[in-house]
Amino acid sequence: MTETTPKRLFIKTYGCQMNVYDSERMRDVLRPLGYAATETPSDADLVVLNTCHIREKATEKVYSELGQLKKMKQASGGKMTIAVAGCVAQAEGAEIMRRQPAVDLVLGPQAYHKLPEMVARASRAAGDRLETEFETLEKFDALPKAREADGPTAFLSVQEGCDKFCTFCVVPYTRGAELSRPVDDIMVEARSLASQGVRDISLLGQNVNAFHGAAPAIEGGEEWTLGRLARHLAKVGGIDRIRYTTSHPRDMDDDLVAAHGDTPEIMPFLHLPVQSGSDTILKAMNRGHTAERYLEIMRGVRAARPDIALASDFIVGFPGERDEDFEATMDLVREVNYSIAYSFKYSPRPGTPAADMFGQVPEEVKDERLQRLQALLREQQTTFNASKIGETLPVLVTGRGRMDGQIHGRSPYMQSVHFDGPAALIGEIVNVRIEGASLNSLSGVLPDASEAAA
Ligand code: 5AD
Ligand code: SF4
Repeated sequence: MTETTPKRLFIKTYGCQMNVYDSERMRDVLRPLGYAATETPSDADLVVLNTCHIREKATEKVYSELGQLKKMKQASGGKMTIAVAGCVAQAEGAEIMRRQPAVDLVLGPQAYHKLPEMVARASRAAGDRLETEFETLEKFDALPKAREADGPTAFLSVQEGCDKFCTFCVVPYTRGAELSRPVDDIMVEARSLASQGVRDISLLGQNVNAFHGAAPAIEGGEEWTLGRLARHLAKVGGIDRIRYTTSHPRDMDDDLVAAHGDTPEIMPFLHLPVQSGSDTILKAMNRGHTAERYLEIMRGVRAARPDIALASDFIVGFPGERDEDFEATMDLVREVNYSIAYSFKYSPRPGTPAADMFGQVPEEVKDERLQRLQALLREQQTTFNASKIGETLPVLVTGRGRMDGQIHGRSPYMQSVHFDGPAALIGEIVNVRIEGASLNSLSGVLPDASEAAA
C-alpha cells in the first residue's frame, strides 16, 4: 500500500438528492488519496462545489461562492485546488473557467470516477481542466462498489438521467439519457450498506420509477422494474426501510402501487411531482399525463396504503399560465392534501423549449401565485404533522440533537422527530410517542422514559 499525506477536503452540495449522493461518492473516491473531510473551506486543500443548474438562482449562487473561494485561494498562497462539479459544470464548463480563472477543475456528473486522477494531475494546462463528456455506464462501472456508510440512512443510486424532456427542464441536457444500473451492482452496494448498519435506504434517480435494470441471469436475465427491485431489497437482512425518489407519473405502474400495500419495508411516503394542475399547462410542459391521471394514481396509492404521506413539486408562472390554470393547481393541491411539497417560480433555462415560448408570466404575478400556493402547502404540511400527535411512531434514530440528552430521527413519513434519549440509540428503530408538531418537525417522548418519570 502506498502512504498518503493527509489532505483536507471540503465539498459543498447544492440542489437535489442526486447531488448529495454524488458528493458522498466523491468523498469515497478521494479517500484513498488521503482526503478527509473538513468543516470549513478556508483550510481545505481541495474544495469541490457540487452544483445545481435547475433554476437560475442556483447557478448565480455558484459564481458568488467562487468569488469567495478565489480570495481564500489567494490567502492560501495558491495551494487550494478548486473544482466545480455537477450540473452547472456540465452545462457551462468552459464558461466557468472563463468567468473564474481560479477554478482548477470542471467535471460533469458523469466524470466523478476520474476525480482522483484529475486532482492528482491538477495542472493549469487546458484539457486537464475540463471533463464533461457523457460516459454514464463507465461511471457506474468505475466507482467503488463497497461504500462507506455514514449513519443509518443512505442514498443508493439506481438510475440516472432522463429522456422525458419536460419543456422547462435542463436535466436531460445536463444528466444525459436515462440509464439504469444492473441489479447485481445495486444488490452488492445495498448489502455493503446494510452490513455497516444502514437500515433506511433511499433509491435515487432523476426518473427512479423508470428503472429497468438488467437482472442477474439466474433470476431470468430480463430487466426488472422498480417494484420488483424494491421487493427484492426488502428481503436483505438489516434493510428495514426502503424509499425512492424522484418519480414520474408516467412510470407509476400498478405493481409499484401495489408494492406500497403489500411490502411493509416500502415506507408510506411518495414524492410524485405533478408541476401543475392544469391540463393546458401540463401539455405545454410535455409532461405526458393529465391532472386526472395523476389524481387517479394518487387515489390508487392511498387505497393501497391509506396512511401514505404524499409529496410533490410545483412550478408556478410557466409560460401561458392563466389565472384559471393556476386555480386548477390550487384545486389539485386541495384534492390530494400533501404532507410536504416544493414549489418554485418558473425560471427560463437557456436551451430549453419553454424559455422561448410566448406568454412569459410577469414576475409579480409569479410572486403572488407562489405565495398563495405556499401558504396552502404550509397549512397542509402543518396539519399533516399535527395529525400524528398522540400516535406512537417507529422512529429510526439518526443522530444527536442540538441540546444535551436530545436525539433525533426519521419517522416512516419522512418527518424529523426530536426527543430525549441516549445517543446509544443511534441506528435503532424506537417507538416514540408524538406530543408536539410544527411545520418542519415532530417532538415526542420514549414511552418507557415517560413511564419511568411518572
Ligand atoms: N423553473 C422552475 N422550476 C423548475 N424545476 C425544474 N426546472 C425548473 C425551471 N426551469 C423544478 C421542478 C422539478 C424540481 C426538481 O425543480 O418542479 O420537479
Ligand atoms: Fe426534468 Fe421532466 Fe426529466 Fe423530471 S421528468 S428530470 S422534470 S425532464
